[in-house]
Amino acid sequence: MRRKLVVANWKMHGNLGRNKVLLNEIVDGVHELQKAEFAVCVPHPYLFQAQQLLSGTNVAWGAQNVHQNEQGAYTGAVSAWMVADFGCTYVIVGHSERRGQFRETNDNAARSIKLAIKAGLTPIYCMGETLDEYEAGVTEAVVASQLDGVMNIVGIPLMSKVVCAYEPVWAIGTGKSATPAQAQAVHEFIRERLAKHDLDLASRMRILYGGSVKSINAAQLFVKPDIDGALVGGASLISQEFVAICQAADKVSGRKK
Ligand code: 13P
Repeated sequence: MRRKLVVANWKMHGNLGRNKVLLNEIVDGVHELQKAEFAVCVPHPYLFQAQQLLSGTNVAWGAQNVHQNEQGAYTGAVSAWMVADFGCTYVIVGHSERRGQFRETNDNAARSIKLAIKAGLTPIYCMGETLDEYEAGVTEAVVASQLDGVMNIVGIPLMSKVVCAYEPVWAIGTGKSATPAQAQAVHEFIRERLAKHDLDLASRMRILYGGSVKSINAAQLFVKPDIDGALVGGASLISQEFVAICQAADKVSGRKK
């Protein structure tokens, strides 16, 4: 049975004062939920604060990116070990904003994933098609190449330590979520593709949906058999919204499909 997982991606938002309020409200809101799992991925400078405020709670924390090399002359970059030093559980890898704005490739993502696992982190590997690709009807081809591109380098044994996320780029920050049926179809496609390599890997892999997840659509997404949780951007910056999404995941968790 795959436990539902809800992960906040704060992106480049926050400051010490606001983070403190938000994290405390999230902890208060989810502390009695026992079935699903929760995490908050904060900007690197706030990892220490997240560690201070979330240690001993049922909310894990993580980073939004790590470099593809262990250490060296990479000005401004942050390694998987630096992130691990702050007790992180997760790191997001290959987000479409990294691919689009920072020219990161499947190869970069694969190298970051390998190092993240070596440093003891759980990578959350993001895939998803752009609006043009969606309109051209090539969603499956795009997602397949993103999945294979990483799996061929990372290898099946290490893939079992990865969480996948399907985030259609056209649904990110637009308020236009994929419908539960659309998201389910792509999640099922990802799981079937994993199953071609390894049945056990496919059945255990958690696949999160991301793209305008809010309290109003979370429950309908979470009841779909291949949607194992959410990666939440905008709504994760509002405590009531994020807590409501966590509650929806917890309610569905453990229910027979
Ligand atoms: P929104 O929830 O703001 O659409 O962002 C989704 C996302 O990119 C999470 O990684």
